[in-house]
Amino acid sequence: MIRAHGPWPLKPSPDPSNRFSGNQTAIAFGKELFEDPRLSRDGNLSCASCHVPELGFTDGLKRSTGIGEVDRNAPAIANLTSLRWFGWDGRSDTLWGQSIHPILNDLEMAATAADIAAQMADQEDLAARYEQTTKINPADEPSETILVNTGKILAAYQETLRTPRTRFDDYRDALISGDIVGLAAYPDAAKRGLKIFTGKGKCSICHFGPLFTNGEFHSIGIKHFAEAGRVDTG
Ligand code: HEC
Ligand code: HEC
Repeated sequence: MIRAHGPWPLKPSPDPSNRFSGNQTAIAFGKELFEDPRLSRDGNLSCASCHVPELGFTDGLKRSTGIGEVDRNAPAIANLTSLRWFGWDGRSDTLWGQSIHPILNDLEMAATAADIAAQMADQEDLAARYEQTTKINPADEPSETILVNTGKILAAYQETLRTPRTRFDDYRDALISGDIVGLAAYPDAAKRGLKIFTGKGKCSICHFGPLFTNGEFHSIGIKHFAEAGRVDTG
């Protein structure tokens, strides 16, 4: 049972639907874009406003606030390369597709494809970085293509955000290799918790594998109304 909660880290696997996946120039540009408020209509909000690096890439709020308050909590941005679905409702099946949603969402960054294309073409620094990454001058690209490429460049950066190994990973590996010293180094309280987690707590039914998740959807008893009378389908 314990062995099934690893190995960590996973080998990074490039996203076949994103031509910038693993590209160092795109990763560096994606980090800049992630923190760039020029991707929002009012010029005040970036991805990092809700996915704050110092807070584990979330915002510490019950519900995120962009241009307006959204119905949902901002998930941490980490270890995303192995997920099948993104968003609480699984609305996107690619990381780059999910990265476009907040740019266009009226309550989040509230921009349009035309706004993003105009920024990329008109702002000298962005135009230079865009051309360096895509080999195409943004002035010669349709707005929709620029928006898609922006999502893909943002995704290339987010793919690099991975959590480090934990003491649990050391314990799991020690168990497999029969390393008695390594086994003894794991605290007793953690061992008791792990026993419940994989045993009578039945947590491992849903939380297993290297990411501690089966990546599926479950009703775990949280009410599904965003507010009285309005259902949140996610
Ligand atoms: C207003 C706050 C806000 C902003 C700004 C924002 N996000 Fe999010 N983000 C959220 C919320 C809330 C969710 C959950 C969405 C859902 O379930 O509908 C989310 C979900 C995500 C996810 C899915 C993670 C997962 O584990 O499923 C990714 C990836 C993501 N955001 C990337 C970005 C990027 C890239 C940007 C900038 C272009 C951005 N976000 C801007 C609040 C925000
Ligand atoms: C039926 C499947 C299922 C079982 C069993 C289960 N969980 Fe979960 N767990 C979920 C789902 C789905 C979520 C995310 C949904 C949410 O947060 O609204 C979640 C979220 C969590 C989170 C929050 C993770 C985060 O990133 O915010 C923790 C911690 C957690 N579970 C611990 C446990 C523990 C401990 C047990 C055993 C006592 C357990 N879970 C049993 C399905 C399950």
